Amino acid sequence: MYKEVQLVIQDQIAIITINRPKALNALNTDVFTDLIQLFGNDLPKQDLRGVIITGSGNKAFVAGADIKEFLTLDNDKAMALSQRGQDIFMTIENFHVPVVAAVNGFALGGGCELAMACHIRVAGRSAKFGQPEVNLGIIPGYGGTQRLAQLVGKGKAMELILTGDMIGSEEAERMGLVNKVCDDQDVLEETIKILNKICTKAPLAIRESISAINAGFNQDGFKAEVTSFGRLADSADFKEGALAFIEKRKPNWKGC
Ligand code: CAA
Repeated sequence: MYKEVQLVIQDQIAIITINRPKALNALNTDVFTDLIQLFGNDLPKQDLRGVIITGSGNKAFVAGADIKEFLTLDNDKAMALSQRGQDIFMTIENFHVPVVAAVNGFALGGGCELAMACHIRVAGRSAKFGQPEVNLGIIPGYGGTQRLAQLVGKGKAMELILTGDMIGSEEAERMGLVNKVCDDQDVLEETIKILNKICTKAPLAIRESISAINAGFNQDGFKAEVTSFGRLADSADFKEGALAFIEKRKPNWKGC
């Protein structure tokens, strides 16, 4: 069904594995087609509580865009490729349930950009991050110049992108690029733990949080927060949340 990714759904969590271990899971045309199919269409609209993106094998999350596909690029084709990458990563960033990157190994170039498009990043201790595009005479093209600065600040983003340096996961965590570092073999388990915790919260509030946080990085974030807050106040769960607090019990979320 998919050429270069695998999908497993367990306990209402979709685990998407980029599956090109021989190419360190580099993002080629087929991976993008599969991701568009998944996020645009195939992932369940109901009863899905979270998504995990990871890479096959233990060497790489994703080592970047597929450099082998760069050979035939001209100006128009490069702009189209960059736009396609940005569009799919934007879809992931705005997905209605949390998307967590389980980073096992190299997350470089487009791989770091994919991880940054996810809402949260969990990394193994030996994972490596970087935007090494300057080594290839290009720049990050899938939103990396924007999201890296959002996550680590302008100065560190400048340093990482201009030097093309790779950093370890602990340094990435100190910078705010990674949310949590754990032993390599525990990455998936830790990622599921975070999602399980989020899954106990009110689904509509989670959806609106994602939407409001993202809006702050576009233009009208404050306005969006007010709009989301107003929308939530109309929901049954908003009332249930307030009532449960008053009655000193656990809320029973309905997702409506
Ligand atoms: N594209 C295509 N193939 C890749 C790849 C990539 N980004 N990264 C690794 N591979 C392939 C290698 O060509 C190699 O294939 P062969 O066995 O057929 O030769 C295989 O994966 C294993 O890689 P290495 O032998 O290089 O493994 P290593 O352990 O010596 O080095 C590495 C690992 C440091 C990650 C190195 O592979 C590397 O530097 N990869 C490229 C990283 C990079 O520059 N990423 C940015 C791409 S550009 C981008 O992403 C732009 C954008 O924003 C749009």
